[in-house]
Amino acid sequence: MRLDRFLANLPAYNRQQVRLLLVQRRVRVDGVATADPLHEVREFSRVEVDEHLLQAGRPARYLMLHKPQGCVSATRDPEHRTVLDLLPAELRDDLHIAGRLDFNTTGLLLLTNDGQWSRRLTQPATKLPKVYRVHTEDEIGAHYVDTFREGLYFAFEDLTTQPAQLDILGPREARLTIIEGRYHQVKRMFGHFQNKVVGLHRESMGAIELDPGLAPGAFRALSREEIAAV
Ligand code: URA
Repeated sequence: MRLDRFLANLPAYNRQQVRLLLVQRRVRVDGVATADPLHEVREFSRVEVDEHLLQAGRPARYLMLHKPQGCVSATRDPEHRTVLDLLPAELRDDLHIAGRLDFNTTGLLLLTNDGQWSRRLTQPATKLPKVYRVHTEDEIGAHYVDTFREGLYFAFEDLTTQPAQLDILGPREARLTIIEGRYHQVKRMFGHFQNKVVGLHRESMGAIELDPGLAPGAFRALSREEIAAV
């Protein structure tokens, strides 16, 4: 919400008072005085007028996890271990997953309590490139490259997939970059050729790469640069 609306919504101030407070630079957001009525106030922002704290701000959390095989990308599951079970209890609170992976897919998983950030990351308009290392049961044909670039028709969603880049690394190994995240997308793309995906690992999402120092099941906080890169 914009700062002037946030302040005017409080019983203490009317619009005129808000304008004055801003001009007099008596309002601080996250410790910095601002006169900008459009300054964005979020649930994570600390807002003060003079010495009065109006909103303390919730700590925002952004984590990368090296998802291992055999756990569910969900916050709870009646049967299986979830990715949240891999985190200490005090960190789990209010986290959600920005871009799920299948039960046996490994690699980069991002978790946050910042809904605006995760929406930016996952909404189709962002066209965020997601890079997967793929191992298949059968040999990968050179003709897959053009088919994936041209797009495949997914009848269930009634759509054609966005152009994807396939780099063949070996007879049964490839790197695939896709800019959307349809249900089981990678498996369905290889399924078009009746070629079963037997190993799938997400290496990166946009500028955020899985930290090679993270063993499966390990996690770390994202850096400021990584958060800002989305
Ligand atoms: N595509 C898949 O098929 N599975 C995943 O886990 C991610 C992308």
